[in-house]
Amino acid sequence: MLPIRAIAAMAVGVTMMFESWGFMVPHQDPTDTLILVNKVNRAPAVPMTLVKPDVTPTRPELSENIYMRPEAAAALENLFAGAAEEGVTLYATSGYRSYSTQKAIFERKLEKMSEKSANASVAKPGYSEHQTGLAMDVEGETTKGTGLTSAFGDSPEGIWLAENCWDYGFIIRYPEGKTNITGYIYEPWHIRYVGIEAAKEIQEMDVTFEEYILKVRADRIVWLEGGQDGENVQ
Ligand code: DAL
Ligand code: ZN
Repeated sequence: MLPIRAIAAMAVGVTMMFESWGFMVPHQDPTDTLILVNKVNRAPAVPMTLVKPDVTPTRPELSENIYMRPEAAAALENLFAGAAEEGVTLYATSGYRSYSTQKAIFERKLEKMSEKSANASVAKPGYSEHQTGLAMDVEGETTKGTGLTSAFGDSPEGIWLAENCWDYGFIIRYPEGKTNITGYIYEPWHIRYVGIEAAKEIQEMDVTFEEYILKVRADRIVWLEGGQDGENVQ
């Protein structure tokens, strides 16, 4: 086992552009909390146990949209409680999504913008982390009701979330300035449950989830030929 800093140095030493690089992790275990879902790694279409975390939805009508896998839901409850103890109020907007829900979201986005822009902010159906039950979109008291925008990252709640979520097993999945690696714009509101140990390592290494998986699943990855951007990969 390499020390974390050595792994980090190796990870950031790899020049990666999502448009021209990519790797697959074949045969992922759908119950693995380190499951990689991105533009080329599809969310497994299997039935899963989902529960509703005991947290406040951003709006009452969103209460049926915040289901998560049990371990992620429990961690989310701890995260929101930890925030509340420090005077930070968080709300849950969007957790588990079915394929058809993701399809509807993607199609709505396409009505408002070009396909290129839509692709940078919403995952195509089948390729969203929300389909794993391990992701949640979070809002805070300060910016509540303004929608999910990058302004959340500068709000007190967004700053608290970025500084503390790893302590509860979550990561900011789409960090600022990492679009070339993750394939998505900065989403300070989208947190992904990976478990406390992995979240801590990712925080210490200061890497994206893609870079982390590249290291911890090195024996299982399959590199894609140049030019892959997920469009042709099923
Ligand atoms: N906004 C994220 C990338 C999703 O649609 O899953
Ligand atoms: Zn999200």
